[in-house]
Amino acid sequence: MPFDCSSASGLTVCVTGAGGFIASWIVKLLLEKGYTVKGTLRNPDDPKNAHLKELEGAKERLTLWKTDLLDYESLKAAIDGCDGVIHTASPVTDDPELMVEPAVDGTKNVIIAAAETKVRRVVFTSSIGAVYMDPNRGPDVVVDESCWSDLEFCKNTKNWYCYGKAVAEQAAWEVAEEKGVDLVVVNPVLVLGPLLQPNVNASVVHVLKYLTGSAKTYANSVQAYVHVRDVALAHILVLETPSASGRYLCAEAVLHRGDVVQILAKLFPEYPIPTMCSDEKNPRAKPYKFSNQKLKDLGLEFTPVKQCLYETVKSLQEKGVLPIPTQQEEPVRIQS
Ligand SMILES: NC(=O)c1ccc[n+]([C@@H]2O[C@H](COP(=O)([O-])OP(=O)(O)OC[C@H]3O[C@@H](n4cnc5c(N)ncnc54)[C@H](OP(=O)(O)O)[C@@H]3O)[C@@H](O)[C@H]2O)c1
Repeated sequence: MPFDCSSASGLTVCVTGAGGFIASWIVKLLLEKGYTVKGTLRNPDDPKNAHLKELEGAKERLTLWKTDLLDYESLKAAIDGCDGVIHTASPVTDDPELMVEPAVDGTKNVIIAAAETKVRRVVFTSSIGAVYMDPNRGPDVVVDESCWSDLEFCKNTKNWYCYGKAVAEQAAWEVAEEKGVDLVVVNPVLVLGPLLQPNVNASVVHVLKYLTGSAKTYANSVQAYVHVRDVALAHILVLETPSASGRYLCAEAVLHRGDVVQILAKLFPEYPIPTMCSDEKNPRAKPYKFSNQKLKDLGLEFTPVKQCLYETVKSLQEKGVLPIPTQQEEPVRIQS
């Protein structure tokens, strides 16, 4: 039976790694839509996960399950009885020992447990890391869902995070096909936006380092960005849309680091934002072309990257990670 979301009430969705940056937003939006949510966590009692219990609807419809991705039985218990699974838990590291096995075997475990418990659809959070790491792609090629990272290149350049995500996604497709699981994949680019969790996750550090003075220069490279709420919405859209299939590249814009620091400096001139590029010899790296049309066709309207950067910094201020400037001037107007 396909996933039928004509009424979210009465439907249960399991979200793995529920306390993480992206997963917390997925849990929040699912609860707001009326779903019952089973969140898996390695340690539900860790204070870093306490924010989940404060979400609207959590008291009535959120349960937390102590689960490790490599512990099949605990995973199956959490997934049992669910209509859908959103598998977001993954190590986020370039340490091959910590990255590859939990990403790959954990993902296989989720799909097998979903098959055994007759889950109707699984959504897997993959990454742009499984898509764009290909040195042979021409500069005019549009990066879209048909692109796959070159595993040998990832290994040779020690990009173990990208390698792990690409191999995990491949494993997800293989096991889903073998077990007859309805799988849809979301491939987000670097995710920014307000944090629901108390600690700062890896992708937000990407911006934080430009505000604390720890980065004295910026790199001569480009990066694609997307807002965390849009990423969470994308997961729910592909879960709920019966015709959704395959991969969905989730990206709003590609910027050079020079553009990022310029936007930050305009919005937040009070911080020691770098003004110099670390590489003054080579030509400025050019943004690559990409397509987010598949998600747009499902109705997703992406938040502009400027707004996303603004909300990220405001959130870091609210969390006390960044000092709030004492002399607040006129609020800055954001122009997209
Ligand atoms: N943020 C980005 O820019 C970005 C971009 C593309 C894709 N993604 C993908 O999005 C997902 C979430 O990333 P995030 O940015 O939200 O990172 P995050 O905040 O670090 O969350 C990762 C989650 O995975 C859990 N986890 C890690 N290893 C685990 C294991 N062995 N067993 C069970 N749970 C485990 C963590 O739990 P603990 O708290 O117990 O460690 C945490 O809840 C990942 O799959 C990541 O690859 C992220």
